[in-house]
Amino acid sequence: MPIRNFNEETLTAEVVRRIQATPDPRLKAIMTSLVRHLHGFLREVRPTQEEWFEGIRFLTETGKWCDDKRQEWILFSDTIGVSMLTDFINYGKVGNATESTVLGPFYVEGAPEMPMGANIAAPGTPGEPCRVSGTVTDMKGNPVAGALMDVWEAQGDGFYDVQKAGGFNARARFRTGADGKYRFRCVRPVSYPVPHDGPVGKMLAATGRHPMRPGHLHFKIAAPRFDTLVTHLFVKGDRYLDSDAVFGVKHSLVVDFRKSAAGEFEARYDFVLKPEGLHRLPPAGRKATKKPKARARRKGK
Ligand code: BEZ
Ligand code: FE
Repeated sequence: MPIRNFNEETLTAEVVRRIQATPDPRLKAIMTSLVRHLHGFLREVRPTQEEWFEGIRFLTETGKWCDDKRQEWILFSDTIGVSMLTDFINYGKVGNATESTVLGPFYVEGAPEMPMGANIAAPGTPGEPCRVSGTVTDMKGNPVAGALMDVWEAQGDGFYDVQKAGGFNARARFRTGADGKYRFRCVRPVSYPVPHDGPVGKMLAATGRHPMRPGHLHFKIAAPRFDTLVTHLFVKGDRYLDSDAVFGVKHSLVVDFRKSAAGEFEARYDFVLKPEGLHRLPPAGRKATKKPKARARRKGK
């Protein structure tokens, strides 16, 4: 029975009721939950009209900062933990598989493929020389051959190549051979701020937060029949590990970058890929594509 004289509670029920004819069950679940939670948020916060309009202004401004080089919406999602929450839901922690973290805005398709052992940092790149090596295996320890490993990082001055002139630098792709091993040279990762000259920067300042990320190396590892792993290796001892502006740090991804006798930094890490579609829980309105293994389920992972 339709209602006209809504109040704070019946209004929510009526909006939800009108959505119930949505043909796509997943869209119906998403819209219903969005309306319930957004109305609940408003009932809790009880914004004034001015505060509501300030919110609209922030959202509008955030959209205006977006173009093909700057994605302020993703940055907003990153800095309020929404990107990491989505990552937990979709990749999660399964058995001994390497944990994932945010992709970030500086990934670029089509980085040059280099031979194993190459230096991804061009001569003259600011930063301290560093070597990184390890293996890519499946969850049973078998080497994964033919994995395409994208690596990218900020240079020693805290900027990615895409933030300055000069083309590709401090990024490359490597392909594993039959032994699943990888190795390359780079510069030791340094801490740097996320872009903070726009609305997200204002939001961080207004909420008493800094824009810094701890030093890290980005990885994207893709191989047939495995879930693509998007992750970082973080520098042990970095002062921002416990206050990463985008909440991306996981203990298992923190690595010692030690200075060798030769004066170069060195880090080792063995990546473990998980089979395609090995999820923990199916999202509301969807069926799981593949059941988690009994062992992973027992451990509550
Ligand atoms: C990054 O690590 O490159 C990054 C991640 C999220 C937001 C901004 C930067
Ligand atoms: Fe980064």
